[in-house]
Parts: sequence; C-alpha cells; structure tokens
Amino acid sequence: MALLLHSMFEFWPIIEKILKLSDAKLVTEIGSENATTTKALCDWAVLDKACRIISVDVKPDEQLLALAKDFKQLKVLAKSSLEVLPELPVQDIYLIDGDHNYYTVYSELQKIHEKSVAHGHPVIIILHDVGWPCARRDLYYYPSLIPESFRQPFSFDMGITLDNSGLISGGFRGESAFACAEKEGGPRNGILTAIEDFMGQNPVYEFDKIDAVFGLGIMISDQHPVKVLVTDCITSYSGNFLLSTLERNRLELFLRVIALQDEVLELKKSQDSSISPSTPSQ
Ligand SMILES: C[S@@+](CC[C@H](N)C(=O)[O-])C[C@H]1O[C@@H](n2cnc3c(N)ncnc32)[C@H](O)[C@@H]1O
Repeated sequence: MALLLHSMFEFWPIIEKILKLSDAKLVTEIGSENATTTKALCDWAVLDKACRIISVDVKPDEQLLALAKDFKQLKVLAKSSLEVLPELPVQDIYLIDGDHNYYTVYSELQKIHEKSVAHGHPVIIILHDVGWPCARRDLYYYPSLIPESFRQPFSFDMGITLDNSGLISGGFRGESAFACAEKEGGPRNGILTAIEDFMGQNPVYEFDKIDAVFGLGIMISDQHPVKVLVTDCITSYSGNFLLSTLERNRLELFLRVIALQDEVLELKKSQDSSISPSTPSQ
C-alpha cells in the first residue's frame, strides 16, 4: 500500500453507490494521473454497454492510454478540462480532480452548470481535494493555463505545513509536479472557496463533504431525481468528527515522515561532501 493514500479511488465504494443510484451512463473524469480511479470506472462501465467514460487529462499517463486500448467504452482526451467541457454533451456524473485551484474549479463548475441548464439535465459533481491543503490554498499543475489576474504567487520548490499560512522550506510539496500558492486564505484562493463562491451564485445545488484523504465533495442539483438517496448515502460520513480527527492525525504523521526523509537526505549530503575523493597514487 502507498505510504500516503491520496487517490479519489479510496472513496470508490461511495462513488460506485452514487453511480448505481443515479443509473449513470455518461461519466467524465477530469484528471486521471495513473488511471487508478479510471480503471475502477471502466470495470464498472463494462457491466452496462450503454455506459461511456471520458477521461480528460492535459498529460495522459501511459497507463491511461493503455487502458483506453483495452476498454472501448473509455475515451481519453488529452486537453485541459476548460477546453473540453464546452464541447462535451452534458454528462450524468463529473469527477473533478484536475488542477487544484480556484480559477480552474470555479470555471469547471460554471461550465458544467451552463450545460446542465441548457439541456435541462440535473447533474452530480464529485470533487476531490476539498480539504487541506487545497481547501483555501491554490495548487497549480499548469500555472501557465491560469490567467494572471487569478493566479496567486506560487513556488514549485517551497512546501506547506499545517497551521502555517505561508511557505516553508521542506514540508508537503509537489517538487516539479505542482506548485503551491505562497499564501493560504483570502479571496479567490483554494478549491473550497471556489465551491462556496459558485454555490453563492448558483444556489440550486446541495453540497456535502467527507473530511478524509484530502477531502471529497459531493455536489448535487436540487432537481436531481435521486438527490435524497445520494444525500442519505453520505450523511454518516459528512461532518464526521472521527473522520476529521483521523485525517488531521494522518496529515501530521505524514508531514513528520517528510521532515525525517529530508533530514536523512541532508545528512547523506553532508556525509558525501566530507568524504573527499581518494587521490590516485602515481
Ligand atoms: C491529482 S491527479 C488525479 C488523480 C486521480 N484522479 C486519482 O483519483 O487517482 C491530477 C491530474 O490532473 C491533471 N490535470 C491538471 N490540470 C488539469 C486540467 N486543467 N485539465 C485536465 N487535467 C488536468 C494532471 O495532469 C494530473 O494527471
């Protein structure tokens, strides 16, 4: 098992229940990474020939491309979510786990909502990373895709830690994979802020979140025929004190592991530099 559980796949039993309850046929996943959740979606989709899975990723991984060869019901789009969403027919369920920042998530929600309204088709949107660290702080996989006016100052090298709104050297960080905004909090910063702003302007959705594995959010249209059933299946998880305590503890322990790994690296570096290369004898 991975040292750090981080995939949306950890919520698969809940996601699968929502897929079944809503009898979903069209599902779009934004952000696949190494296709962990995509594979589960494909295994579920083969049970119903009418199901179609679309996976959108700016840089599709080899595992995702290989999966698309095996599963004819899966289509991979190597584009950004904001390019793709206006072109797609309205879907039954959207899984949002792409670029973890205010601009991207707010725009994704807005584009999905516009499609849903235009087609009179209520939707379910499942969002990952609605908890720490992305709730109130932007992370950027592809900062160049974010308009400057929305982009927070960021760093690819510095990291973040709990109860510190700035950056630290060390801490949780993406190294070259993603950058962290320099500051946590404030307007137009973070995924939960994007969700709150979107819902403030479109009060036709209900939103619940599960405080585990970086947070899962479930947004469902008031008009959705299975709204009550979906809400019922997540009520015992949402706002659960035990889950949020475990998540906090998990994060603290993981940050400690990162700090220890960094200390070991530093130690190795200083040992290597103190051993001078032996001079070849003449
Ligand atoms: C956190 S990973 C996804 C993890 C995956 N959903 C899972 O459950 O295991 C984020 C992925 O989103 C992709 N991505 C980032 N920004 C994107 C965007 N604007 N549109 C589509 N994909 C994006 C990245 O290339 C990366 O593969």
